[in-house]
Amino acid sequence: MRYFLLIFALTVALVVVIAGQRGDLSRRRPISIIPDMDKQMKLLPQKDDTFFADGRSSRLPVPGTIAQGAPYQDWPQYTGRVTGLTNFVENIPVPVTEQLMARGKQRYEINCLPCHGPQADGNGITKKYAMAVVANLHEKRIVLMPDGEIFNTITHGKGLMGAYGANIVPEDRWAIIAYLRALHRAQLGVMEDVPVEHQATLKK
Ligand code: HEC
Repeated sequence: MRYFLLIFALTVALVVVIAGQRGDLSRRRPISIIPDMDKQMKLLPQKDDTFFADGRSSRLPVPGTIAQGAPYQDWPQYTGRVTGLTNFVENIPVPVTEQLMARGKQRYEINCLPCHGPQADGNGITKKYAMAVVANLHEKRIVLMPDGEIFNTITHGKGLMGAYGANIVPEDRWAIIAYLRALHRAQLGVMEDVPVEHQATLKK
């Protein structure tokens, strides 16, 4: 019994000496018996690394990235208005490309054609079903309308036309407007647009 107490006291002392170091600062690595995935193959930020061809561990932000906290909701491409003003933007504020135009045709045919018709003259299928008031989008008033105002009409609707903002993302709204402008242009051709050598045949 005497020895037991002695051994017990020594064991306690030993455990306290070895395990009781927690909280002390140490520059040495901790001994991990169960590493719990503490160490992994990974790229550390701001360090060079050969994994990517450019030798950096960090990637550059993808194009179109908006800095956290940066205001963007009032950009013309989301409002159709000049930032800070209520004026509508005159022209489409995104680059008009062939892809945008093709997308616009497709989106127009899905969202607008049933009412406004393939030529945008207001002769869609809905006319047959008593919807006789659909606007002819070749009216001079609409041809002269700023692109931003048409954007606003698509987003919020106007008069008897419902709002399509919830169905059509802003980029697609501009695509539709680009396509609508092409339809306008198709109706506004003048003789000067025809190549000279064909003008004579047309006049006949
Ligand atoms: C459900 C039928 C319907 C659909 C779909 C529709 N419109 Fe209309 N749109 C109308 C009607 C009806 C009017 C006339 C509203 C009025 O004057 O009260 C109108 C008017 C307009 C006007 C003229 C607004 C003005 O200032 O007088 C524009 C521009 C227009 N639509 C564009 C579009 C575009 C672009 C789309 C597709 C995204 C579209 N519409 C889809 C029914 C529709």
